[in-house]
Amino acid sequence: MSTAATVLLNHPREVERLVAGQPTSDGAGVKLNRVLSNNLQRRLDPFLMLDHFGTDNPDDYIAGFPDHPHRGFETITYMLNGRMRHRDSAGHEGLISDGGVQWMTAGRGVIHSETPEQNEGRMAGFQLWLNLPAKDKLCQPWYRDITSAEVPEFEQDGVKVRVIAGESHGVAGAVQRQHTEPLYLDLSLAPGARFEQPLPAGFNAFVYVFEGGLKFESGCQVPPGRMAILANTPGSDGVRLTAGEQPTRALLIAGRPLNEPIAQYGPFVMNTEAELVQAVRDFQAGRLA
Ligand code: CO
Repeated sequence: MSTAATVLLNHPREVERLVAGQPTSDGAGVKLNRVLSNNLQRRLDPFLMLDHFGTDNPDDYIAGFPDHPHRGFETITYMLNGRMRHRDSAGHEGLISDGGVQWMTAGRGVIHSETPEQNEGRMAGFQLWLNLPAKDKLCQPWYRDITSAEVPEFEQDGVKVRVIAGESHGVAGAVQRQHTEPLYLDLSLAPGARFEQPLPAGFNAFVYVFEGGLKFESGCQVPPGRMAILANTPGSDGVRLTAGEQPTRALLIAGRPLNEPIAQYGPFVMNTEAELVQAVRDFQAGRLA
């Protein structure tokens, strides 16, 4: 049975610009596409980074991410395929596999490793970095493994929606955050299917297509491997996405900007240079473990 897609929005946002990711490698040589990099941190505040990894070649991922520190923000790892073992200095250990999420608040400091637990087959997923407000940057580290079955989902008008964070069409996501109110959706759209999501105009938002393609009413098309930054048009009330002629997968991510200074040195993200110097000192002195 097919029904007309629900119309919630009067003034959907348009695409401000399309961004192609940068192929890079991180950890011990894991190949990935860096979709959101340093030059977009201000524009997409509170999001600091988005990496997309996806390969059938074990040489691209097998070495994983050996022990490394973080301070001042949160890392959200979403596995589409494959298994990754996580261990950290706070004593947490967990395994994320197909469809599961690991949400880690580094706060004042965590040292962790992320290691693939397979030596053949496909490994694919995302890591998103979400900034913390200044007052929470040195908070107690926090960690949660969310299995695929624990990610709330619903289907509507040919669209399957997995709600990792925030709220969509009355379905609360696996994680809520007070200050930045992040929305993190994984959308699977049938060919031609349409999805609407209300969004406050002041929230920064983007869509990343990883299969198929999306089109906007302006005629703008978003092919796979591209991020569409959504315009913060005053008076806009959300986003309307329509799949092209292929089955389409995309992430829709949005949040309230912190509007605070961003100072980054590798895996440390603070507000000032002095705080970065302190982070490096604390790491070298073993105070992050
Ligand atoms: Co890490």
